[in-house]
Amino acid sequence: MQRFIGEISHETGMRLNQTTAEKDGAILLVRADHGSESVGKVGEDESYELTVGTSNARLTAPNPLGILHGLQTFLQLIETGTDGFSAPVMTIKDKPRFAWRGLLVDPGRHFIPLDILERNIDGMAAVKMNVLHLHLSDNEGFRVESKRFPRLHEMGSDGLYYTQAEMRELVVYARDRGIRIMPEFDIPAHSRSWFVGYPELASTPGTYRIEPGGVDTVMDPTEERTYKFLDKFIAEMAKLFPDAYFHIGGDEVNGKSWDENAKIQAFMHSREIKNNQDLQAYFNQHLEKILSKHHKIMVGWDEVLRPDLPKNIVVQSWRGQQSLATAAQQGYTGILSFGYYLDLMWPAARHYAVDPMSGAASTLSPEEKNRILGGEACMWGEWISPENLDSRVWPRTAAIAERLWSPQETEDANSMYTRLDGLSWRLEWLGLTHRSHEISMLHRMAGEDDVTALHTLADVVEPVKDYTRIEGVKGDWDFRAPMNRLVDAANPESTTARHFQQLVDQYIQSKFQDRGAEAQIRTFLASWRGNDAKLRPILERSFLLREVTPLSEELSGLGASGLTALDYLEKSEAAPQQWRTQQLAQLDLANAPKADLLLTVVAPVRRLVEATATSTQ
Ligand code: ACM
Repeated sequence: MQRFIGEISHETGMRLNQTTAEKDGAILLVRADHGSESVGKVGEDESYELTVGTSNARLTAPNPLGILHGLQTFLQLIETGTDGFSAPVMTIKDKPRFAWRGLLVDPGRHFIPLDILERNIDGMAAVKMNVLHLHLSDNEGFRVESKRFPRLHEMGSDGLYYTQAEMRELVVYARDRGIRIMPEFDIPAHSRSWFVGYPELASTPGTYRIEPGGVDTVMDPTEERTYKFLDKFIAEMAKLFPDAYFHIGGDEVNGKSWDENAKIQAFMHSREIKNNQDLQAYFNQHLEKILSKHHKIMVGWDEVLRPDLPKNIVVQSWRGQQSLATAAQQGYTGILSFGYYLDLMWPAARHYAVDPMSGAASTLSPEEKNRILGGEACMWGEWISPENLDSRVWPRTAAIAERLWSPQETEDANSMYTRLDGLSWRLEWLGLTHRSHEISMLHRMAGEDDVTALHTLADVVEPVKDYTRIEGVKGDWDFRAPMNRLVDAANPESTTARHFQQLVDQYIQSKFQDRGAEAQIRTFLASWRGNDAKLRPILERSFLLREVTPLSEELSGLGASGLTALDYLEKSEAAPQQWRTQQLAQLDLANAPKADLLLTVVAPVRRLVEATATSTQ
């Protein structure tokens, strides 16, 4: 409550008083029927009812989770007016559609300090998410202190890991905001960091280091000592993380190290284990027993899905929506992450269009559908740093959060963007830096005080999509590389490009009559046309920025093409075919990624150029 009062005061500049009794004249009355559980549970009642009247408001909920959500809604409703703040008169009865609304953060690849996790939890609470899934170990780093096996974090990291005290603090911090923390220790693959201190766990004997490349090996599932180790390790972590769910990874098991190991082959032969999938299932069955013994429910990536595993495990679908439906048909509960991979740099609308109940899940029976618990946005850490993490997570995660809270039929992307634009600043006030990080990065890369021209370019580029960036380095991905290029500063989705696109749509729909839209389009195009001349000296002086020179040139070219196209359109005159052919060829060149960046305004400029094909007189 104190925190909420702080937020309202921060937002409105008004001083507020808090009392515990029902008192006449209270501006906002808050009442929960019960106290909270000491550890959050899946499927708790998160509903609330908020009534805003003409002089006061009332918020009630069965338990504090609903109160937390209702307070967030109340904060969203506050509007600035000419002589004060107000909230519209209304009654809201609200509850989430899905019980599991998560965000995965991956400090395994790149360590993320605790305070940054905490501010992301604040962001999650603002959009009513309720699970932070921490991917705590991968080939590049083991990120939690283990007192039982200290070589895990000491040798399996670059010295950056969370102490147990820090993890306990984080669990409490999250619980206070209605958020569960689910740890993931990814095994048997993605686990080189374990082998640095404990090489006996690996299927391939050898010496392991935290370094790029190296042997891609997996745990040895045939040795009793592996399970003894895991039993003790899980016993320790089960205490540290009170949540009922425990994620064991299970994705992308490279069977090569099993194929090449004669002892493992002999073991499989003697037990009639036919292939590597079956061997992984054997491993998972052992693991599940260990987790059960420590009162944990096993969660794994969709590769763990095998009919012979106990039905209480949870399958997290990442390779497609089919596995979620298949799991539900076979009696497993599941969560969807396919379609919610933030590292693929998709626009919010593309994530928003994916629903856990759509695709393969749409034909499930009601009972099967009930097994779909929800979804998780995934922020994989190959290309993140503490400096740019927020900008990869926010504001796009808010669109996924809404997808998981609101009815399936709420699917209008324009309407979603209106809410997202408003929310984006609120998230920044909470301490997230998804908007402010860019300007300081640009200053550092430029080494200049005035970065206006660089900002103009940065505003209309986006990092390349899908796995293009990692494919570009062809196996030479080095997690130690500094994230200090324009691609690391640029936002995944350009708001300017979206607005420009909308203006062009509006102008074309008006049959080139909307002079207001035209004027705004001209302002953008003119600023781009003149930008390269201003930016060039900065690019020439900075080795970090030199690689974006072609993009700067092309942006100016786009500005010039677009302005000429507008001149024809304004006069309702067709442009000569030869001019158009030339411009379209330039646009094709501008469309290709450079320096791992895409120019996002090529398509709308192309539409203007194409529109000059016919006279509109
Ligand atoms: C995954 O993205 N390998 C789960």
